[in-house]
Amino acid sequence: MPEMKDCRGLTVTMSGPDALAAHEELTNAYLGFKVNTGDCLKKALSVDAEAPMHQAMAGYIFLLMALKPMVSRANAASEKATELAEQRGNAREKLHAAALAKWCVGDITGAADRLEALLIEWPKDILAIKLAHYLHFYKGDVVEHRDSLARVMPAWSLGMPGYSAVLGMRAFGLEEAGHYEEAERIGRRAVDLDPEDTWAIHSVAHVLEMQGRHQEGIEWIDRNADEWDGKIHSFANHVWWHKALYHLELGQYEEVLSLYDKRFYSELSDDGLDIANASSMLMRLRLHGIDVSDRFEHLADVIIKNKLEEALLPFNDLHYSLALAGASKPEAKLLSERICKEDRKTHWGAVYRDVGAPLSQGLVAYGNGDFRGAIEALNPIRYSWSRIGGSHAQRDIFQQVLIDAAMKAEDWALANSLLAERTALRPNSHETHRRAEQVASAL
Ligand SMILES: [Fe+2]
Repeated sequence: MPEMKDCRGLTVTMSGPDALAAHEELTNAYLGFKVNTGDCLKKALSVDAEAPMHQAMAGYIFLLMALKPMVSRANAASEKATELAEQRGNAREKLHAAALAKWCVGDITGAADRLEALLIEWPKDILAIKLAHYLHFYKGDVVEHRDSLARVMPAWSLGMPGYSAVLGMRAFGLEEAGHYEEAERIGRRAVDLDPEDTWAIHSVAHVLEMQGRHQEGIEWIDRNADEWDGKIHSFANHVWWHKALYHLELGQYEEVLSLYDKRFYSELSDDGLDIANASSMLMRLRLHGIDVSDRFEHLADVIIKNKLEEALLPFNDLHYSLALAGASKPEAKLLSERICKEDRKTHWGAVYRDVGAPLSQGLVAYGNGDFRGAIEALNPIRYSWSRIGGSHAQRDIFQQVLIDAAMKAEDWALANSLLAERTALRPNSHETHRRAEQVASAL
C-alpha cells in the first residue's frame, strides 16, 4: 500500500489521494466537534477500510462516544487497526493502534503513554495531541494535561493546518492548571484565528468562570454563537451549559431554566455529557432554592432506563448518581452498589473503588437526608475526586453538595472552613458569600 504525506507532513499508509482526503476531512471534523463526524468516518471507511489510521479513527471515535453499544464496535476496529498496522503500517500508525488497544481494555494510562511517546517523535500529529488531551482530562491530571501541549508547541506555528486548535487545547491545559492569564490570552488568539473553534471558546469560558467574570462570560458565549451553533455536535450543549453557570451566579434563574430546556438538555438525549450537564445544573439550581423536581424526575427516568449498567466513565456514573440522589430515587443505591462492587484491574477500576464508591455512597446519603452520612463519605475524599476526571468547574458541584450537607447537619465549623476555602478560590461567588453569612450568623 502506498505511503503519502498528509497536510502536516506526516507519512500515512493509504490507498491513494481520495483516502487521504477522506482522512483529512475526518480529522478536521473530529477536531472541530462537527455534526458530520460520523458521516466523515463512514466515508473514510468506504474509500479505504484497509488504511490502518481509518480503523484506528473508527475505534477512537466509538470509544469517545462513551456509549455501551459502541464498545464492541471499538474492539472490532481496534483488532483490525492492529492487524493492518502490523501488516503495512509505519511506526506512528503502529503506536496509534497500540494506544487504541490499551484504551479498549480500560488501560487509559497505557493509552496516554503511547500517544505521548508518539508525540515525542511526531509532535505534529494533531490527532494524537487531541486524544492525549482528552485522556489526560478524564484522568484528572492537570500537570500532564498542561505539559502535554507545552511539549508539542515548539513544533507548531501560524499557518500550519490545525494551529488554532492546538492553541485552544494549550489554553485549556493552562486554565485547568490555574494559569488563567496565559490561558485567556492564548484562547482568545485561537478564537481570533478560528471563530468556530468551540474548544478554544470553551477554554476562555472556563477562565471567566474560575475568575467569576459572569457578565463577561455571557457576552463571550453569545458573541461567537452565530459562528458555531448548529455546526457542532453535543459538545455545543456543554458550551451553553457554561453560559447557564454565569446566569446562575447572577441569580438569573429564568435564563438558566430556558437554557436547560432549549439549549443543553433534551429528554431524548442519552449522551453522557448531556446528562452530566443536566444533572449538575439541576443540583446547583436546587442549592439555590429553585424547585426543579419535575426535571430531576425526567432525568432520573432516562438514567434508570438507559444508564444504570453503563460503567464506562466514572465521571458520567457519578453524575448519574447525583441526578438519582436529586430525584430521591431508590436506584441511586443500586447504582452505588454496582460502583462499590467494581473489580476491574484497570485504571477506571481503581478510580471506581477508591473514589467512585465513597462519592456515590455520599450522594445516596445526601439524597436520603442523611447529611452526617454524606459528610462522612464525602469529606475524606474531597481532594481525590479529581481522579474521576472532568474540569474544576464541573467537579465543583460535589464540593457544593458537601458544603450543603455540612450546613444541613448543622456542622457549622466544617461548613465555615469549607466556605472559607471556596471563597479564597472564588471571591466573586454571590452564592458562596450568601452561605458564608448564614453560617457566620449560626456560629
Ligand atoms: Fe467545560
